[in-house]
Amino acid sequence: MTEKQLQWGLLSTANINRALITPLRASKRNQLLAVASRSLDSAETYARKWKIERAFGSYAAMLADPDIDVVYNSLPNHLHAEWTIRALESGKHVLCEKPIGLTTAEVDAMAAAAQKSGKVIAEAFMYRHHPQTIQAKELVESGAIGKLQAVRGSFTFKMNTNVNIRLVPEMGGGSIWDVGCYPISYARYIIGADPLEVFGQQVTGESGVDDSFFGQMKFPGNVFAQFDSGFQTAFRTHFEIVGSDGAIMVPAPFKPGLNEKIHLLRNDQTEKIAIPKQELYIGEVEDMADCILLGKSPRVTMADSRANVATIVALLESAKTGSPVLMGSSA
Ligand SMILES: NC(=O)c1ccc[n+]([C@@H]2O[C@H](COP(=O)([O-])OP(=O)(O)OC[C@H]3O[C@@H](n4cnc5c(N)ncnc54)[C@H](OP(=O)(O)O)[C@@H]3O)[C@@H](O)[C@H]2O)c1
Repeated sequence: MTEKQLQWGLLSTANINRALITPLRASKRNQLLAVASRSLDSAETYARKWKIERAFGSYAAMLADPDIDVVYNSLPNHLHAEWTIRALESGKHVLCEKPIGLTTAEVDAMAAAAQKSGKVIAEAFMYRHHPQTIQAKELVESGAIGKLQAVRGSFTFKMNTNVNIRLVPEMGGGSIWDVGCYPISYARYIIGADPLEVFGQQVTGESGVDDSFFGQMKFPGNVFAQFDSGFQTAFRTHFEIVGSDGAIMVPAPFKPGLNEKIHLLRNDQTEKIAIPKQELYIGEVEDMADCILLGKSPRVTMADSRANVATIVALLESAKTGSPVLMGSSA
């Protein structure tokens, strides 16, 4: 076993960084070394607040620091591809926030840059590393609910501002990119396949992004998925998995806390299965360390991320045209 500690740098002072700071500090194999911001003043203020050793006044300056091993890309969605590629070209491994890109061409360019540099790249779908998600998948695969027929998931919340990166079309805004990506990813993971055909409808908000999105996806073997996402709806998340002999309900599928239970419904009875406690964001940090230090493959592969992006692009196309979209191999 190696003793090396990976040195991490935060690419921006984004709100979401705080989710990663505690797990990075809790992990024996990872250490938070630096933060970069578009202004030195903001980087230094942030570094003081969070007790981070190094502060950089530009993203490029942090990428030039030879002591940084891993970059956490928490930039707005439209900058994920550009700065992930620049980080990979600077010899850094990258954990990039969801959605990893806004087109399959962007994802392909990121995968090519990772291949060329020999560095690890993974999308930060933190829920995929949590024991609850893995247990839901295992239950389905064990035949606990019979033949899988349908899944259904939601992720909505009420945005109490009109100034947010999520509302800007040019920045990859919209509820499907922001939160719809979770039930879509969860559906593809549980079903273990990609959709053949999708149909989407949206409510467009004042800024031009989808405030709400409602989607349906047809998978091989007559398995169906439905989801909704939204910015103007009360906070709610859930995921339901339906089979011929039972159903599974996951009340907090995307952001599980420390005391979660999966509900297994069979023969008119509900069994509540307790999930081992695990802090939500530690999994993606440890997975990066496994990949970099032990040569494991990321739990969220680039092929998986590419298929998720392709599905979202197809759903948006469907909402625009009003017609279902067939997803071919070149999607
Ligand atoms: N996995 C999760 O649980 C989760 C949760 C929330 C968000 N996210 C993802 O994390 C990313 C960031 O979300 P967030 O809500 O944390 O964003 P945020 O607080 O708005 O931060 C984005 C950061 O990007 C930098 N930036 C660079 N160019 C910018 C521009 N033109 N306009 C605005 N900011 C710009 C800014 O940092 P500087 O000023 O320091 O340069 C800003 O602080 C998104 O991709 C989002 O999807 C993931």
